[in-house]
Amino acid sequence: MPLKIKDIIWIPESGNLEKERKWIEKEIKSTGIKKLQTLSIRASKAKGTAYTPYSKYNVGAALLRKSGKVDEGQNIEVVTYSETGHAEEQAIKNAVSKGAVKEGGRKFIKAIAVSHAKDTAPCGKCRQIIVEFCDNALVIVADSKGTIKRITSIKLLLPYAFTASDLRIK
Ligand code: THU
Ligand code: ZN
Repeated sequence: MPLKIKDIIWIPESGNLEKERKWIEKEIKSTGIKKLQTLSIRASKAKGTAYTPYSKYNVGAALLRKSGKVDEGQNIEVVTYSETGHAEEQAIKNAVSKGAVKEGGRKFIKAIAVSHAKDTAPCGKCRQIIVEFCDNALVIVADSKGTIKRITSIKLLLPYAFTASDLRIK
């Protein structure tokens, strides 16, 4: 059988994209936009304790657990660069160290807000770390003051992710 190019191209179907848009909308409404706005302001404030002598680019993150608790993080740079902790990563690691997994299991992230000068989304490394701790979650991009610029989902930011279920782990 000749290979059909049409059958092997792997891109999201428009119907699935629309489903995801609806999931995001429903999730925003059920959480409440005010709560997400407050979360974004906390991300912006968390930025204040970033350690960025090399890039001088401060990033703050605040994550909302399913339990309602909030954990914060900010970037912490290391002169050798690759050891630098990103804001989203730090917020998640803070949550785990405070018992988030013990409290609600591995999939504890409901939403994560990130605040910095550019309205861009978390980097690839942070996307993979977010996926480790949820099936899906809102990702909020806020400006440096904490005003929400965009809301998307980790499913959209990291499609076809390699996850725990690929190792048969729930
Ligand atoms: N940074 C984050 O904190 N999160 C990201 O996902 C993107 C990059 C930080 C790392 C570094 O300290 C600075 O932003 C510039 O790259
Ligand atoms: Zn990152």
